[in-house]
Amino acid sequence: MKNATVGPFVKWAGGKRQLLAQIRERMPREYNRYYEPFIGGGAVVFDLLPENALINDINEALINAYVQIRENVDSFLDNINRIDSAIGEDGKDYYYSMRNLYNMKLEKMEYDIELAALFVFLNKHCFNGLYRVNSKGLFNVPYNNSKRMSCDEESIRMTSDYLKRVTISTGDFEYACRNAGRGDFVFLDSPYAPLNPTSFESYTKEGFTLESHERLARLYDELTERGCYCMLTNHNTELIEQLYGNKGYTISVVNVKRMINSDANNRKGQEVIICNY
Ligand SMILES: C[S@@+](CC[C@H](N)C(=O)[O-])C[C@H]1O[C@@H](n2cnc3c(N)ncnc32)[C@H](O)[C@@H]1O
Repeated sequence: MKNATVGPFVKWAGGKRQLLAQIRERMPREYNRYYEPFIGGGAVVFDLLPENALINDINEALINAYVQIRENVDSFLDNINRIDSAIGEDGKDYYYSMRNLYNMKLEKMEYDIELAALFVFLNKHCFNGLYRVNSKGLFNVPYNNSKRMSCDEESIRMTSDYLKRVTISTGDFEYACRNAGRGDFVFLDSPYAPLNPTSFESYTKEGFTLESHERLARLYDELTERGCYCMLTNHNTELIEQLYGNKGYTISVVNVKRMINSDANNRKGQEVIICNY
């Protein structure tokens, strides 16, 4: 059996697990506060376990899960064990009934412990751990045919203990970085720039548009002026080269396997790690 560890409790598109060694190699040796405004599954923060961290995401249901795990771990585990153990013979029907329940709660904006447990259950039982919503913001990913437990209790407890020392917020990345200053380390892993410029990948019902990428690049320049250490990852595309090239930043190109990709022929790719120090 796997040892319990502090770690991601959801599988997340664009998760940075396979880049951890390259990220660690390029980290500043010392820094004050750690900022991660696009936290997703949190592969990087859970690898580094910084003492003084702020994590943020625009996805309120995801952030609700972080907050509930931090503040109500016993109740979270009771809820998720109850949901897991009622799966029965027909996993498929059960999954879709849980998805309906989750969406009903989302519509009523019930960001509570039950929503957090449903969120993690759906993440572990949906196709590829994708978080995809329709135009109304409702979760619409199909079942992955698994009946596995959604989490490891001991790991969730250790993760909860770590999160007690972390500031957690939900909102836009720019606002999350408003207090970042000299000597702070800001790790920026936004939704990817499209490989094909006509297809913008959408993580939220708003999506992350060309304008969002331009706004992020302006923030990167501003954080540089403020004296922050910045590290940003993205696809190695022309847009990213236009936004960050020729500014004196260090751009490393790294090879990756793409885990979540609808095109099975396109599972290898290149990413960039851009540092301003
Ligand atoms: C590539 S994922 C981050 C993956 C993460 N590094 C990991 O290891 O799992 C990008 C995240 O940015 C979030 N996001 C999208 N638009 C945002 C915005 N305007 N402000 C903050 N977060 C945003 C998405 O909800 C998503 O979780």
